[in-house]
Amino acid sequence: MDSFIINGGKQLKGEIKVSGAKNAVLPLMAAALLSPGESIIENVPNLIDLKTMSHLLRVIGARIEYNEGRLSIDASNCNCFEAPYDLVSKMRASIYVLGPLLGRFHQATVSFPGGCAIGSRPVDLHLTGFEKLGAKIEIKHGNIIAECKGGLKGAEIVFPFVSVGATANLLMGAVLAEGITTIKNAALEPEITHLIDFLNAMGAKIEGKNTNTLVIQGVKELKPTKIKVIADRIEAGTFVIAAAITKSPLKIVNCNPEHLQALFTKLEQAGCHFRIEGDTVLVLPAEVIKPVDVVTEPFPSFPTDLQAQFMAYMTLADGVSHITETIYPDRFLHAAELNRLNADISVKNGTATVSGVKNLSGAKVMATDLRASAALVLAGLVAEGQTTISRIYHIDRGYDKIEEKLSNVGADIQRIIM
Ligand code: UD1
Repeated sequence: MDSFIINGGKQLKGEIKVSGAKNAVLPLMAAALLSPGESIIENVPNLIDLKTMSHLLRVIGARIEYNEGRLSIDASNCNCFEAPYDLVSKMRASIYVLGPLLGRFHQATVSFPGGCAIGSRPVDLHLTGFEKLGAKIEIKHGNIIAECKGGLKGAEIVFPFVSVGATANLLMGAVLAEGITTIKNAALEPEITHLIDFLNAMGAKIEGKNTNTLVIQGVKELKPTKIKVIADRIEAGTFVIAAAITKSPLKIVNCNPEHLQALFTKLEQAGCHFRIEGDTVLVLPAEVIKPVDVVTEPFPSFPTDLQAQFMAYMTLADGVSHITETIYPDRFLHAAELNRLNADISVKNGTATVSGVKNLSGAKVMATDLRASAALVLAGLVAEGQTTISRIYHIDRGYDKIEEKLSNVGADIQRIIM
């Protein structure tokens, strides 16, 4: 298992280019199953999760090619409607094939996703949504077995709370359902808007983009299309925090600043400033970091996927901050690892209390999940001495060559290949 060794305290300088968004590509890849023919997705980062999704689509019978950021998916000859345990257990987003398979082939068997390091991650909203659309669903031997003889039928789905995964999955099923489907309390995340653009370009009829009510007029068939993936707002946000925590005026290029407003607001309260021009953000970091409270919530509020990284920043604030996680209340495994680096964090009832310290100090730590790993990298960049982060396969799931991007702006970070 690979590790990172970081010698902290280096000033960073220059610009970092943001890659395409993992969380946007995953549903697009599943959506490509909705039509025969070759769909093209461009600006695709080279990430383990996307390799896992490619593997799953191949099991289903799609032909996949990836070359320098261009992914081609030909779903003409799909003949196996199953997502097996070994792939679903590696990557929960495998559940995204349920909607397209039910929509186009009227059947799907998907291994039931369990919990993961960030907590229990149920899929009940996905399943009750498909039942509303007429699917029969059985849970047997650890599998979700779903079928809808004659196809899905439009219906009204009202989510009791916002779910990105369920919104994406139900959208992908509803586009080929007979009649009209209405999804109320739909997620507003940019990745959902992007999926709607992709589906509409395939010939779907979805109205209500960027609102929480989506109206889908089912169509008989879809055609393949081409799309360029939006910038990864979480990767961009991680680099913005890298600039802030190292007090370096870094330029983050190729990002969409509109997707980062909640982060900018919190960093401005901490004392940072930003110069935004088109798709470029120049971070002007705070000299003294003011403590700021954060509550994670669905978009456009502060994202759960930046909670760990923001916590790393607050460990060096001049005072006490509180970080409350409402999406995954147990998503705090990074707190104990940050404490190994001399942070002072205690967690109770879904809220972390972070008492700022003068300095972090290098130590051996362990990556526990994808965004937690990013938080440890950020802390390692400023910790005195050497930080070794083990189990960095987590970070490879979601950050394309992070050590290369950070080295290029002056960080001392090395991958040790075991
Ligand atoms: C969530 C985040 C997403 C992030 C991803 C990975 C939100 C709203 N979603 O997406 O931004 O990229 O984690 O970190 O911020 N839930 C149920 N039943 C379901 C589905 C979800 O109870 O069937 C709950 C979840 O446990 C969670 C909340 O709803 O508390 C939001 O879940 P959802 O958005 O579906 O999760 P992801 O798609 O994994």
